[in-house]
This record gives sequence, structure tokens and C-alpha cells, in this order.
Amino acid sequence: MLSVSTNTIGDLPSSAPSSSKEMRGEVANISKDAMFFALGWSILVLSWVIKEQRMKCIIRGGRHFVIGSVDKRIFGSFLEQFGRAVYGGVYEPTHASADEEGMRGDVIALVRELDVPVVRFPGGNYVSNFNWEDSIGPKEERPTRLDLAWRATDPNQFGLDEFMRWTRKVESEAMMVVNLGTRGLAEARNLVEYCNHPGGSTLSDLRRKNGADEPYGIKMWGLGNEMDGPWQVGHKTAHEYGRLASEVAKALKLFDPELEVIACGSSSSDMVTFPEWEETVLDHTYEVVDYLSLHMYFRNDEDDLATFLASSKRMDAFIDTVINVCDYVKAKKRSNKTMYLCFDEWNVWFHSNEQDKRLEPWTVGPHLLEDVYTFEDALVVGCLLNSLLRHCNRVKIACLAQLVNTIAPIMTEDGGPAWRQTIFWPFYYASRYGRGEVLDIRLEVGTYENPTYGEVEWVDALAVHHKAEQELVLFAVNRHPDEEISLTVDLSDWDAQVIEHIVLESDDMKATNTKEHPDRIAPKTRGLDGLTLAPLSWNMVRFSLKG
Ligand code: AHR
Repeated sequence: MLSVSTNTIGDLPSSAPSSSKEMRGEVANISKDAMFFALGWSILVLSWVIKEQRMKCIIRGGRHFVIGSVDKRIFGSFLEQFGRAVYGGVYEPTHASADEEGMRGDVIALVRELDVPVVRFPGGNYVSNFNWEDSIGPKEERPTRLDLAWRATDPNQFGLDEFMRWTRKVESEAMMVVNLGTRGLAEARNLVEYCNHPGGSTLSDLRRKNGADEPYGIKMWGLGNEMDGPWQVGHKTAHEYGRLASEVAKALKLFDPELEVIACGSSSSDMVTFPEWEETVLDHTYEVVDYLSLHMYFRNDEDDLATFLASSKRMDAFIDTVINVCDYVKAKKRSNKTMYLCFDEWNVWFHSNEQDKRLEPWTVGPHLLEDVYTFEDALVVGCLLNSLLRHCNRVKIACLAQLVNTIAPIMTEDGGPAWRQTIFWPFYYASRYGRGEVLDIRLEVGTYENPTYGEVEWVDALAVHHKAEQELVLFAVNRHPDEEISLTVDLSDWDAQVIEHIVLESDDMKATNTKEHPDRIAPKTRGLDGLTLAPLSWNMVRFSLKG
């Protein structure tokens, strides 16, 4: 087909008579035309063949197929009192951007960008050895304590009241976790009185004396942290914890029946006590708690991208199993109540493991858990967000662990700038555009076989309907290492027109955002013709809907 060649013309002897030269010129012109014609057709046919052969992903759905409405608290986060999350993170009085209370303004601005509706505090493992009373009152009178969980020194300069004022600055709500490791019922009772009682009792008046005239009105209360973990200070068996949690929940609800109480589930599905822990804890607490917590972290220390990108399969399975256990206990108890889930720790975490082993103990604000996230981590975080949203009918609260410096989307330098890590971006877009109704879509796309997860779809996709705006937002990760995938959306009763396509892509899976290069991984806007997902990319596509 492509054999039309200029060589035929070039072969003509230059000594030929002019007339015949002209004639030959004509022949040459015809050959040229034929050549361009043939070439044009070839390109057309070839591109058609390539287009036909391009991998396809068809998404089918419609307004009548809905999983549920997203509770905005699914975009929550977590600020633990350790590492440089607080000291050098949210709090650094000597920083150029610090306000009158020592809170970093650059960090506040980035947290507001993420629009985080709830922040869990103060831990984490830290909470199981924490006396909340140490963290209130005049700063110069606060004791310095040893944090046994992280083997650090805690000067208590950013305490309970500072945290509550900071949540107002970032326009967020607090989730307060009580210490059920070294302490228990009395501490929780006192803490809720200090925080939420208007006044006229010793502890509520103490809060007023400390500058907070109005009660904080903290609605979400966590009953301890990872109490199933042998590493936890004050670790308990499921029976011990279940009994204690049920009494603390009862006391909190006696104070205010409107409080929402979260019991500890397993620290991950790898725990040997999973899922028996869930069953036993719920046997004790089913009628007095509102949520059961889940924690899970993801890693790629074996550098196996195909498996790492399928991490949302593991999250899906974990959530599905916990839902099944909750519903089993519901059936056993002949209860009408549905237990909801609070996935209050999730993220990628492994990059800092080795460097953390070399840290000096008992310092203030050590460089702990400072994972520098790669581009592939951002893809995985995108898939994990899809998994949480896919379960929005049961997962009502979730906390990206964590927020600043320690396994976080926001990174700072002491006395220097703050910047967005790669994982900032999928979270940012999900938080801004993921609050609507999640549709129960069907995905038609090829799969790959993975030794850990079995059959894995090349695309992880999720669709959110925004009724008021008449918009549909699609979050999609192309897991394919080298195939661009064309996307077709069939929404039966809607006509959908693409209005925006944002993409995160990179040739380098290990690319990071650093102080020197804070925007190496940043979102780009794609053209609107021909909807395709680039190989190894995260995408957000917005459609306007008619019909
Ligand atoms: O988020 C870091 C730690 O991970 C938390 O302190 C603990 O709850 C979990 O093991």
C-alpha cells in the first residue's frame, strides 16, 4: 500500500528531451497525487484501525441507580500530637506566617483549600498515654510529658483549647478521641464536661476561665484508639475493651444523647483478631455506639506497581467484611439499628519506615513518619477515595491519616515554606467535587490478573451526581501501564456533555513534590474532544446533564 515511491521519478535520466521531460513531469505529478492520495487514505485507515483497537471503558448508569448520598465527613482528616504534625506543622510561633497564637497561616490556607470538614485529635497511638488536663491553662504552667507511643517529649504547648481554636480557623469540626489506654470512664466524663457544658460546673467554668466562654459543642467522640493492637499503651482484649467502651458510650450519651460515638474496630484486616474483634466489641456496644472504626494503610515497598494500584480492592474487601459483621450482630440482637462505619485512619504509609528507625528518642517534634509521596501514591489515593465513596451508604466518616507533615498531603519546612504533596490533588478534587449522590454504575473494561487481588479492572471509576448543578462528576484511574483508554459514558435518561477534564499524569512513577519542586505533580486541564484516559493517570471529568 505504501509502495508509491519518489524513486520512480528520481530514476529518470536527466539527459532526456525536454518534451519527454515535461511528459515525464506530468507522470511524476500524477504519481505524486496518487502517492499523497494513497498516503492520506493509509493514515486514515490506520488511525481508524488504531482507534478501533484502543482499549475501551464503558460506564453505564442513570439517575435511578444510586448507592447513596455522600456525608461530607468522608473527607475528614487527622491531626495527631506527634512528629512535626503540630510543632513545625500547624503550630510554629516564630514562623513568618504565624498568627498571634502561633498558628502557621500558610498551613491554615492549605487546609482550607482541602476543605476538610472534620479533624480527628489528638491521636492515634498518642492518645492512649495522654492526660488532657496537661494541655490546658497557662502555657508556662503546663507539664512536659513523655509520649510513650512515639518515644518523644511533649511540651504541651498546643493543647485542647488551641486545637479547638485552630479548627475554627480552618473551618472544620473536631472529632475528639478519649484515652482508654491508661485512663477510662472518669477522664472521658470530665473531658466532655470541660468541652461541651455551657457553664456552672467546675470543669466548664475552667474552660471559660481558659478563654472559651461558649461550649465547643464537639459532636463526634472516639472511644480510644487501636485498642486491639499489642503496641497500644493499655492494649485490651475485645471483651475488656467492649465492656469499657460500652460504659463510656453510656456516660457520654447520659451527658448528651445527641453525641455521636465511635467504637474501635480492628487496626487492619491483617490483625489475627479480625473480624472476631468487631463481633465481640459490637456484642457489648451495639445499642450505645453509632459507628465502628476501621484503619488501613497501604504500601509498595516491594515496588510492585500492578499490585499497589489494586489497593482499593483490599479496602473494598475490608469495608464489605466489616459491614457483614455489623449486620450479623444486628441480626443476632434482633436490632433495627444500622451500624455505620468511620474509616478514621487510611493512607499510603511506608516511605519513612527506615529513616524512623534511626531517630533519637525523647526529642520535641522529631521528623517522624515524613513520607515523601510519589506520583504512584497519588494514583492509589485516588483509587482509595473511590472505594470510600463506593461505600457511602455505610461509611459516613473517614479521616485521611494524616494532615500535616506526618504521612500527610501537606508538607512544611521549619521556618520555611509549606507545599502540596502529590496525594494532595486527588483528595482536593474528591473533597470539592465528590459531595453528591454516588451512582451505582456498571463498568465495562478489560482486566488483568494479579496474584494478590485476582481479576483487577484496568480502570477504577466512580460517578457522583450533583442534582442542583445538573452535573455528573467522574473520578477515574487508568491502571494500565501503557494503554490510553477511551471512555464512553452511557447514562440512559441523560444527555451528558463534557465540560471539564482534569488529569494527573507523569512519565515518572516515583516523581515527588519537594520544597525545590513543589509543582512537579500538579493537575492539568485536558482538551474536551475525544474522552480518553492516559496510561497511569488519575482523572476527574465533569459532565453537564440534560434530560
Ligand atoms: O497514623 C499513625 C498511627 O497509625 C496512629 O497513631 C495509629 O493509630 C496507627 O497505628
